[in-house]
Amino acid sequence: MLKPVDFDRTLILTSPHYYALLVTISKDNKVNVMGLSWFMFTSFSPLLIAISVGNTRHTYKNLKEIPEFSLCFPKPEIAEKAIQCGMFSGKYMDKLSELKLETIKSEKITPPVIKESIVAYECEVMDSFATGDHSIFIGKIKNCLGDIDAYEHIYVKDGYSTTVSIRYDIK
Ligand SMILES: Cc1cc2nc3c(=O)[nH]c(=O)nc-3n(C[C@H](O)[C@H](O)[C@H](O)COP(=O)(O)O)c2cc1C
Repeated sequence: MLKPVDFDRTLILTSPHYYALLVTISKDNKVNVMGLSWFMFTSFSPLLIAISVGNTRHTYKNLKEIPEFSLCFPKPEIAEKAIQCGMFSGKYMDKLSELKLETIKSEKITPPVIKESIVAYECEVMDSFATGDHSIFIGKIKNCLGDIDAYEHIYVKDGYSTTVSIRYDIK
């Protein structure tokens, strides 16, 4: 039966949620990676993806400097490291080197992609606007990468606090 609940409870009830790694670069070429659940596809033609980034994030600053990002869906092998990218800020640490996350060069944008991904989108920011304490960045997908032999990636559950990997059997 439906009854009033607080917002945090709705996040638990609607688990699991997508979890991706958003990779950006600063104007002095420092790569940063943060955890992100708030994204959506917004157009087929052109192919567009919208991400919501908190205005205080180090990632926000990077996106304003270099308007490009890769959005990478991590494999279970790096679940632990991936979740730490959503807990620590690039303002205070170099997450890639401290967490030993490997990247590979992107084909169409400056920020790299996370090597242990099932899918990665290389995007160029076309537009952005503030929405409360976050901002929406609209990315034009310039390149899609996928590991066609992989079938499992991670999601977050219970109010974004823990990860779960879900297997998808491709027919
Ligand atoms: C499961 C999970 C999902 C998250 N989703 C988002 C999101 O969609 N947007 C956002 O701005 N921050 C999100 N965060 C928080 C950022 O990843 C976190 O504040 C991070 O430390 C920011 O890193 P940065 O300062 O290096 O950019 C999420 C964190 C977790 C653990």
